[in-house]
Formats: sequence, C-alpha cells, structure tokens
Amino acid sequence: MLTFRHLTSAHQLLRSDTDFLISVAAEMEKVVAKGGNDALKGKILAALFYEPSTRTRLSFEAAMLRLGGQVITADGLQFSSMYKGETIEDTMMVVGRYADIICMRHPDLGSADKAAAVAPVPFINAGDGPGQHPTQALLDLYTIHKSRGSLEGVTVSFVGDLKFGRTVHSLAVLLSLYEGVSLQFISPKELPLPEKVTKVLDERKVKYSVGEDIREGLESDFLYMTRVQQERFEDKAEYERLKLKYILTPEHLTKSATKVLHPLPRVGEISPAVDALPNALYFQQVSNGVVMRMAILQSMLAS
Ligand code: NCD
Repeated sequence: MLTFRHLTSAHQLLRSDTDFLISVAAEMEKVVAKGGNDALKGKILAALFYEPSTRTRLSFEAAMLRLGGQVITADGLQFSSMYKGETIEDTMMVVGRYADIICMRHPDLGSADKAAAVAPVPFINAGDGPGQHPTQALLDLYTIHKSRGSLEGVTVSFVGDLKFGRTVHSLAVLLSLYEGVSLQFISPKELPLPEKVTKVLDERKVKYSVGEDIREGLESDFLYMTRVQQERFEDKAEYERLKLKYILTPEHLTKSATKVLHPLPRVGEISPAVDALPNALYFQQVSNGVVMRMAILQSMLAS
C-alpha cells in the first residue's frame, strides 16, 4: 500500500513506498514476460505532455497498455487549451472527468503541486521544469537495486547539470531513505545541486561530497551522468561553454567497475563507445522504466 494519492515529488515518499514499488516492479517483470495482463482493463490514463518527451511518455503509455488499460494523450503547449489561457487547475478539473489517472509534464516549476491540489483523480508528475521527476528516480532506484541486490550502503556519483537536472533532485532524495548511502555531486561550479535538495540530505544526515572532476566519481558503485539542460539556460553562451564539460569515454573506465546510469537523452556526455562495456546500464534503465511505471499506475489506481 502507498502512503499517497498523488505523486508530485520524491520528498513526499517514505521508505515503505519505495520498497513497496520496487517489489511490485519486480513482479511486473513476470507480467511483461507473459505478454501483459488485464489488471487495468477499463481504466484510462491521460498523458499530458506540455514539454518535449519521448521516452517518458511512451514508457507511461507502454506501461498502461501492458496492464490492459487505455491511454488518451495531449501534447505540445501550443496545441492545448493552456495556450488559450486555461489554468492548470481548470485543465485538471476537465481531464479528471475523462480519465482515471493523469500524468503531466510541464515546463513550470511547481506546476505539479498546482495540479495535484485540485486533481479529481490520482495525479503523477512526469517532470515539472527544473523541479522534480519522481517516476524517473523510482526507476533509477529500481535499476540500482536490481543491479546490486540492495540499496543500503550504495555509493553514487552524480555528474553534469545538477542545478537543472530534475532527475538528480529526485533520485538524491530517494537514496537518502536508505542507510549508509554515500553521494558525490560533480558539476561545474555554475550548476550545483539546489539547496532544497542538500537541505534534505543534511536533515537526513546523508554523507556526501561536492567536486568538479569526473575522475573523482570513478570509484563509486554508480556514476549517474546527466545532460546539461539547454532549455533552462537564459544565457545561451553559458550553455555552449558548459555543455560538454564532461564526456565519459571508455578510457575513464579501463580500471573502473562503476556502473553508468543516465536518464537519457544523452547529447554527447557519454561516448557511444561506452555502450558496449559491461559498465553501461542506461538502456536497461529504459526497460526498468516500463515495469516501474506499471507498478506505479497499478498501485496508485488500487489505493
Ligand atoms: C529526463 C528529464 O526529462 O528530466 N529525461 C527523461 O525523463 N528520461 C532527463 C533529461 O531530459 O535530461
């Protein structure tokens, strides 16, 4: 059983929620292997994507279809009623009358909280600007658990745009629920982890360090690479200057067993030559995304 009705942020999740979803996702692997089931027959997911997305949207859709449910979609802010001036609140009141559960990606920080405050059906944040992306973090957590067998004591180094990278904000908070984890945050000094996240890590007494050199992360169990988030930069010259500060190549990994994660899309920060190495887990993350979202949809619709 989950402790929440709407999923807007990693900050709201308890250890019992993450453990429960990890165990349901493992069960969903069996459901997928058998070609799906009808657990959500008659249920409709509304997928609202007001910001570009390929994998998150398709992953939610695939998850719903594998469980026998159906999907209605709206994408592109410019084609929606929001473009005509409709508020997020009104959109929720309307869409909640078409669907049994809603997921939404939106460019504005805080949009998910606005939506959840009024949504007449369970609501899932699929990314709110530079804020949170809790379902990606749950699938990342599941990937780490599956690869390592446990989460306690894991060491993870996050590399890249830690300021705007919402998946990092969510995953760091989820990892803080587990004993003995040790985190490292490697970024250009212009793109540090926001205080909102470090505050939680401090409150929960998580061990972490901050640095600028990718080589410092190669001893960790996991290296979580991220893209510099072009769309969040006001100063395009600054983006150009920072975008390829970190490029992971096979040379970095010759003596390192660190497993490489990335929420994707990558835009140059991991050389394609890394893909063939046993270190690379980022395409496994994609498969894990479907089973984790099946677990989330089924569990949220059941509670
Ligand atoms: C991430 C996102 O949208 O925040 N992508 C995703 O959901 N798979 C990461 C990114 O866009 O860099």
